Amino acid sequence: MSDKATLEYNGQKYEFPVIKGSEDELAIDIKTLRASTGGLITIDPGYKNTGSCTSAITFLDGEKGILRYRGYSIEDLAEKADFLEVAYLLIFGELPDKEQLQKFHNDIREESHVDEEMKKILDSFPKSAHPMGVLSSLTSALIAFNPSTVDVSSEAAMYHAIVRILAKFPVLVAWTLRKKKGLPLEYGDDTLGYVENIHKMMFRRPGKTYEKNEIVIEALDKLLILHGDHEQNCSTSTVRIVGSSHAGLFASLSAGISALWGPLHGGANQAVLEMLEAIQADGGDTKKYMAKAKDKNDPFRLMGFGHRVYKNFDPRARIIKKAADEVLGDLGIEDPILEIAKGLEKEALEDQYFVDRKLYPNVDFYSGIIYRALGIPTDMFTVMFALGRLPGWISQWREMRLNGEPIGRPRQIYIGENHRPFVALDAR
Ligand code: CMC
Repeated sequence: MSDKATLEYNGQKYEFPVIKGSEDELAIDIKTLRASTGGLITIDPGYKNTGSCTSAITFLDGEKGILRYRGYSIEDLAEKADFLEVAYLLIFGELPDKEQLQKFHNDIREESHVDEEMKKILDSFPKSAHPMGVLSSLTSALIAFNPSTVDVSSEAAMYHAIVRILAKFPVLVAWTLRKKKGLPLEYGDDTLGYVENIHKMMFRRPGKTYEKNEIVIEALDKLLILHGDHEQNCSTSTVRIVGSSHAGLFASLSAGISALWGPLHGGANQAVLEMLEAIQADGGDTKKYMAKAKDKNDPFRLMGFGHRVYKNFDPRARIIKKAADEVLGDLGIEDPILEIAKGLEKEALEDQYFVDRKLYPNVDFYSGIIYRALGIPTDMFTVMFALGRLPGWISQWREMRLNGEPIGRPRQIYIGENHRPFVALDAR
């Protein structure tokens, strides 16, 4: 296999190196394209063919349906690890030993206070505000209360910033939910595990003792792991590109949250549940919605189906579908929405339109059903996604800064007006 690619343009040949990833993925390295060809650039809307970086964090093979964090399969991690171990793995590259994990958790606990003044900012939002907007704003506001910029040449400073956000973010998530529900804003409980503590912060009722439900915590832990990272998706690319201007970690994360909010990305989990509820309210006629999804004159899309990279089953969807069955069974919940989802999935997998376009259920198709069973309100689903994705965003930001990547600044092809004389207001 050649390690060079040749481009012929205007009778001249240009050679570019072909680089190979550790799983044999190939890329034409066009770093010198513009300079060597006297101005040619590439154009690739949506970056369908463009690699923005090399990365050692997550490997994804969309054709084979493979997902690995730092070399470990998502199936193994979801089954055998807990979320904090996975967060450490994603960020620092190796699974922690017992001592490292204990220290990591203790350091997070030490940083889990959020300045009381932040409550005033939260108070200024109407109850109707979408939690993702609130969370993005609060994450950005954290900068004002933790103003030091991260010295990326110092491992200690980097570690401190990472631990701080892993500690404070769950408090912001819990406060966002509690404010919406009119519940008092509380802090965490140092004696609990990371995920259990998040759950308690979110749901403890005033005057009531919090009782741990193993099934709920395990399911939540698994969901967070499954959302941990997914290489250069829309929100992660946002975090990297904002961070590439040397904006701080919290500012980059706040931008990532906004990117995740959209219904084509993380917001799909909320959209899926709303779609399933709409189908149920409409008499459960899945065929009608299948037809709408295929109709090019109808903007409706089957939410939770299709993926830019997976052209096979999303491995996370397989795990979540099984978990949804188990969790609902264990909690003794019979949810007709689950049956509608299964029916829709079966029809789509057998439908030529979906088969031809390789549209399979993605991570968001079944996750909302579990969140609902766990008592999480629908408009908090994408917030849960953000909670899971936090270590991924942090690891990608850290990698980008440690690699010294240049500022992200794509080019364009201008297709507007050519130079024209200015026309005075009276003469227009
Ligand atoms: N329902 C109906 N048709 C679809 C769907 C869908 N969900 N997804 C793609 N298509 C069709 C699309 O109309 C196009 O058809 P044609 O070739 O005839 O024009 C073809 O499939 C290719 O779609 P595309 O929009 O060019 O593909 P993309 O890679 O740009 O988009 C996607 C990927 C995930 C945005 C898209 O599949 C989609 O909108 N899905 C629904 C939203 C969703 O579930 N998003 C969550 C993604 S997974 C979690 C995450 O990453 O956040």
